[in-house]
Amino acid sequence: MTKRFPWYDSGWLSSYVSAKEIVSQCYPGRLAEFTEAFDVFRTPADFQVREIKNVLGKALFEKALEAAHAIPPGNLNKKELLHMGRTILHNLPELVEIQKELAARVSEEVNEQVEPSYNFLSLYKDVGFLTPHLDAPLAKWTLDLCLEQSAPWPVYFSQVVPWPEECLYEKENWINEIKHDTELRFTPRTLQPGDAVIFSGSSQWHYREPIQQAQRENFCHLVFFHFIPKGTSHFVRPVDWANYFNMPELARLAEHDARKK
Ligand SMILES: [Fe+2]
Repeated sequence: MTKRFPWYDSGWLSSYVSAKEIVSQCYPGRLAEFTEAFDVFRTPADFQVREIKNVLGKALFEKALEAAHAIPPGNLNKKELLHMGRTILHNLPELVEIQKELAARVSEEVNEQVEPSYNFLSLYKDVGFLTPHLDAPLAKWTLDLCLEQSAPWPVYFSQVVPWPEECLYEKENWINEIKHDTELRFTPRTLQPGDAVIFSGSSQWHYREPIQQAQRENFCHLVFFHFIPKGTSHFVRPVDWANYFNMPELARLAEHDARKK
């Protein structure tokens, strides 16, 4: 299937746009039903990033830190080392347990009931950076926890935006065009260890400048706890849409996002 958008984690959005085209052709009378089914994954336009100091409390935070330190280096996934400057690890058991405890707090902060989707530890090295992107709705809500860092490293969030259904940015310059799009109203946030931000990654652009611009030999270790609206796990992934909507033609959609629960 065509990759419609140049940014990281855009496979879901490509699938959604392709699915709308398939539904328009095969089931034109059901297009509104199809698009409205995804309203649960759209974020209210007035949502603002939430900052929470010491979100886990001392004991739980130390448990998370110890679990991260205990990972044998060989167990870390290096697939994003070259293009993002980080090693990662999904769903470390100690963090899965902590995420269950965080669901009630996140529900309260975002004003809807949520359930855990997945989490991953992200260990940025001194070549770390993050180009602008929107996440798949598997990460409609993210609690981004700072474990430890050599120095505060700003992360920039846009205001909430509707999902773009085509890429209006220039092929060679889309990164700069997004960063400098004044309508997106990017705002930087910095975290101290133990602190977290909650944002809507599927509806808020986010990025980080290269870490070495702030300080050499820098590092920043984060945990991303991703949450979805409660009761939506059975149709958040494109691979489930053919059955969920009883539209066999949607089975042709490739599952771009290889992450699994
Ligand atoms: Fe993201």
